Amino acid sequence: MADMTELKRQAGEKAVEFIQSGMVVGLGTGSTAVHAVRAVGRLLQAGQLQNIVAIPTSEVTAAEAHSLQIPLVTFDTHPVIDITIDGADEADPNLDVIKGLGGALLREKIVAAVSKRFVIVADYSKRVTQLGTQAPVPVEVIPFAERPVRDYLQSLGARVEKRLDGDKRPYRTDENNIILDSYFGPIADPHQLAAAIRQQPGVVEHGLFLNMATDVILATFDGIEHITRP
Ligand code: A5P
Repeated sequence: MADMTELKRQAGEKAVEFIQSGMVVGLGTGSTAVHAVRAVGRLLQAGQLQNIVAIPTSEVTAAEAHSLQIPLVTFDTHPVIDITIDGADEADPNLDVIKGLGGALLREKIVAAVSKRFVIVADYSKRVTQLGTQAPVPVEVIPFAERPVRDYLQSLGARVEKRLDGDKRPYRTDENNIILDSYFGPIADPHQLAAAIRQQPGVVEHGLFLNMATDVILATFDGIEHITRP
């Protein structure tokens, strides 16, 4: 029987089937997206994909892509991305997702926003009927604004935890910001919450990715489910 790592691999590799030679590809971050990155590297090496260039969503992914000899570019030369493949922490039936438990939500959202196709890859455990059921909403915050933003998120009903790194020090993003993981519980109106979070000065970005995914690939023990936007 497939284990969870195998399911993540299946989801990641399924999405790579949508990539065609010559495309500009957004490379996601996390333990699922990395399988897509590795598959792109293998297909390039084998010559089955050609003339691919990529934009990574984090320094970690950039390093992985570099080690696989995937050519990396920037928005300066490639402002539009054909397809981005990235993971998620929760996905609901509307293809709305929570992202950012890996800490890369800011660059992930920037990349997703300029992607013609934005494919979420995940194992079935990320499926929820309502966002917020399992995961917090990660909020990336300028360190100077930590206290007012924390107070504000609490006033919106969240239990707020400042994210720590493996050494129990405040986690710092690639942009040197902090993350406040905000536990709202099941979110009745994600659009309203997203708009509210944005209003507070010092909030850089949040992990609610709404109306952005074009596809969700969910790997289950019974096979792959591919959900697309109607
Ligand atoms: C990275 O910041 C995240 O958005 C990840 O894409 C998300 O946390 C999913 O990660 P896993 O595939 O490792 O669960």
